[in-house]
Amino acid sequence: LRDFPLFENLTDEHLAEIAELCGTSEYAKGESIFFEGDEGDGLYLILSGVVQIYQDNHTRDVILSIFREGDFFGEMALLQNEKVRSASARTIEKSTLCILKKHHFLALVQSRPEILIGILETALDRLRDANKLITDLTILDVRKRMARLLLRLTEQHGVPSAEGTLIDVKLTHQHLADMMGTARETVTKLLLELQNEQWIRIDRKKIIVCDMARLRATVDAM
Ligand code: CMP
Repeated sequence: LRDFPLFENLTDEHLAEIAELCGTSEYAKGESIFFEGDEGDGLYLILSGVVQIYQDNHTRDVILSIFREGDFFGEMALLQNEKVRSASARTIEKSTLCILKKHHFLALVQSRPEILIGILETALDRLRDANKLITDLTILDVRKRMARLLLRLTEQHGVPSAEGTLIDVKLTHQHLADMMGTARETVTKLLLELQNEQWIRIDRKKIIVCDMARLRATVDAM
């Protein structure tokens, strides 16, 4: 838990207390964690693995965000007492999650209100991302949407690699399509184009952005 930015200012004693209250669960790849409309039972902390937050619109999923180790989710239904889960959560890779039950979470934020500030800061960053996504989906063509998506993914999941910046989650073409509101075939075609133009390289199902400065400049010029 020490690695969670949310808990970085807590003492070892406090962390040990929280660790005792948390239950740990293993999820297989592609397993559902909860569904939009469910009651909020707890806060989820990702110890390992990758989770997608999505809304299921019958015809296709819309992926709102991808979370991984060190991220938390499920705070909204806990803090908005009369409200249910605002979106569904499912693993993209085998994951280990720590679950802090609702009553423990509420007791914790009462005794350590500064945790709420950390949650609020994260929630506001997520709102900023969501705003960008709304604008992108409303006004940009698919190639530009792909450029913005790659930039967002490098900001959230990028690690330096010899060839550029590696987006350190394995995403299928369908996942990318569900993140940018287009068809899987369009993503496949765009990724090929971007590889041919040496914007990106794919290594073991992960995308490497070869030239971040060029990508940033392109996105800034949109
Ligand atoms: P909750 O509504 O309890 O369950 C779904 C969770 O997904 C939600 O809490 C947030 O933690 C997270 N979530 C919802 N919408 C977004 C979004 N637009 N971006 C990132 N995370 C989100």
